[in-house]
Amino acid sequence: MPTLSLPFLGHGGDYNPDQWLSRPDILEEDVRLMQKAGCNLMSVGIFSWAALEPEEGVYTFDWLEGVLNRLHAAGISVFLATPSGARPSWMSQKYPEVLRVRPDGGRNLHGGRHNHCFTSPVYREKVAKINEALARRFGHHPSVVGWHISNELSGECHCEMCQQAFRSFLKDRYGDLDALNAAWWTGFWSKTFTDWNQIHSPTPQGEDALLGLTLAWRRFVTHQTVDFVKAEMEPLRRLTPDLPVTTNLMCCFGGFDYQTLAHQIDFTSYDSYPGWGVGPDEKNAAEAAFNYDYMRCLKNRPFALMESTPSQVNWHDICKLKKPGMHLLSSLQAVAHGADTVQYFQWRQSRGGAEKFHGAVVSHEGSENTRTFHDVAEVGETLKKLQDVRGRMPAPKVAILYDQENRWALDRSEGPRRDKKYLETVIRHYAALKRRGVDVDVIDETCDLSSYALVDAPLLYMLRPGAAERLTRFVEQGGVLTATCMTGRVDEEDLCFLGGFPGPLRPLFGIWAEETDALTDSECNGARMEDGSVYDTHYYCDLIHAETARVLGTYASDFYAGAPCVTENEYGRGLAVYVASLPGDELLDHLFSRLLSRAGVKPLVPDLPRGVWAASRGEYLFLMNFSGREQCLSVPDGTELLSGRAVRGTVSLPATGAAVIRLTSC
Ligand code: GLA
Ligand code: ZN
Repeated sequence: MPTLSLPFLGHGGDYNPDQWLSRPDILEEDVRLMQKAGCNLMSVGIFSWAALEPEEGVYTFDWLEGVLNRLHAAGISVFLATPSGARPSWMSQKYPEVLRVRPDGGRNLHGGRHNHCFTSPVYREKVAKINEALARRFGHHPSVVGWHISNELSGECHCEMCQQAFRSFLKDRYGDLDALNAAWWTGFWSKTFTDWNQIHSPTPQGEDALLGLTLAWRRFVTHQTVDFVKAEMEPLRRLTPDLPVTTNLMCCFGGFDYQTLAHQIDFTSYDSYPGWGVGPDEKNAAEAAFNYDYMRCLKNRPFALMESTPSQVNWHDICKLKKPGMHLLSSLQAVAHGADTVQYFQWRQSRGGAEKFHGAVVSHEGSENTRTFHDVAEVGETLKKLQDVRGRMPAPKVAILYDQENRWALDRSEGPRRDKKYLETVIRHYAALKRRGVDVDVIDETCDLSSYALVDAPLLYMLRPGAAERLTRFVEQGGVLTATCMTGRVDEEDLCFLGGFPGPLRPLFGIWAEETDALTDSECNGARMEDGSVYDTHYYCDLIHAETARVLGTYASDFYAGAPCVTENEYGRGLAVYVASLPGDELLDHLFSRLLSRAGVKPLVPDLPRGVWAASRGEYLFLMNFSGREQCLSVPDGTELLSGRAVRGTVSLPATGAAVIRLTSC
């Protein structure tokens, strides 16, 4: 399989010259400015279908050839896009089946983008044809270094063709209706199916309370999206087997399972839009870093930062400008966590349309004399100093489990709280691990655990096939596992485990969770630890019995005050820790600091000040200051690459500053 392997750290952005075909002067100027900004990589043609095929079967590719030639002559490489993220109007008019159908059965009108049925044979055929034509004409163009297919795949269609595809998917999965009825517990509320055609996708107008169906639908949406991607890629794979393929993914997206998609593409790419300056940047940094580590782990390879904004977005509630220094810092953060490119949406601000006020490298003013342009050029200069980072990866001994199927099951289950806090909790735990100065992998329940010393698995409600065995073996062989309330409630079909929670993990944790209380958002309970200190806990309280586990902390209040809240169970050569509520930050800090040392995991940098992040790629150590004030840290010896200076023992980071140290020994 080909993969992303550029001879440089990529720098550039979405380039949409089709918006400017009537302005050849601007297209010329673009190339001059790209060189000036240190750009070497553009994503071209993402939403260009109307300009590439203005009438059915009439391909007008000459303008694109001109653009690719110009970029190539300037030494700029290209991710060539397939245009399937939005269709031309003629297609929806002539073939209404390409348009999406809503859960209520109504068909959408033409408009927006991403508004297509993933099943429609017409849509698939039109996509395959234009992709084939693009691959034939440009697949071997010397500027093209990869395919960018579609754009931010998302959504679902409920048309009759999709219903049929869903039923075939179910037949493959369950074989017969008896098995399906058993898996979905359809005896409850008389929901037993006696004919496949009785099954319809979940909809508020019909069946919305059968969780087995809901879960199966989400799995089907994953399957159908991935199937569409395979169809998109077929001509590309056939005609350009050596060109790597990606599609750009989104922050915390829950519509389908990225892990399943990742098996099909050659490298992951990610669109990152944190709300810097809105709320604490330490929190924004945590969410961004979590997503970067998730992207890195999807293929266990460096990824592309396919989009970010060089200044502000135009779709947050409040669209703040990036403060001085933040563009460089936030771009370095992506590189620190595994990005081999820094790219933007978009190169030049559109004159009209929905995104005309979205930040871009070149503004409506049109020159290089803007703060944003200088910030971008600074990133271009900086990336040149970091070339050797390319391709390097960290080797984390710590992983956090974030599982998409678990998220669907937990979020949709009724009780004990409406807002389950899954993603928020995972990111909070991730941030607490990062505060301890370690590299962290973000993996799901299907991943191999053997390279880790500590695995944290918050709110692991659903245990997918093999997960309980993998977790148990991990601990038996010496690993430290941490889990929380609501662990081990259901199997992959959302059927509760019989015989006491946490189901098959009961012996591993040595506890039985008999009941679970829910707290309001403003309530908290607490864990009173052996030394008398009390730490806040939130949202859920499992009432547990310690069976073989040792009690480390007890509930501080309510009628279950004094009952076990934090336990640990020696199991095989390892340790399984259960926190029966959701720990606040102080308890997380307390537990992780003790457990990381028990697991033998050394921090990259000791005693990281709050708001300073550390991440490594091979012998390169990145330190990033999101704390808002100057910080001085003890660090190992090496050479700081941004300044070119030797580092001996300490480094000082200005507010919104960063250091990249090539360590002398690591
Ligand atoms: C997404 C899309 C882009 C653009 C940006 C704006 O990431 O992929 O086309 O709309 O958002 O932030
Ligand atoms: Zn459909």
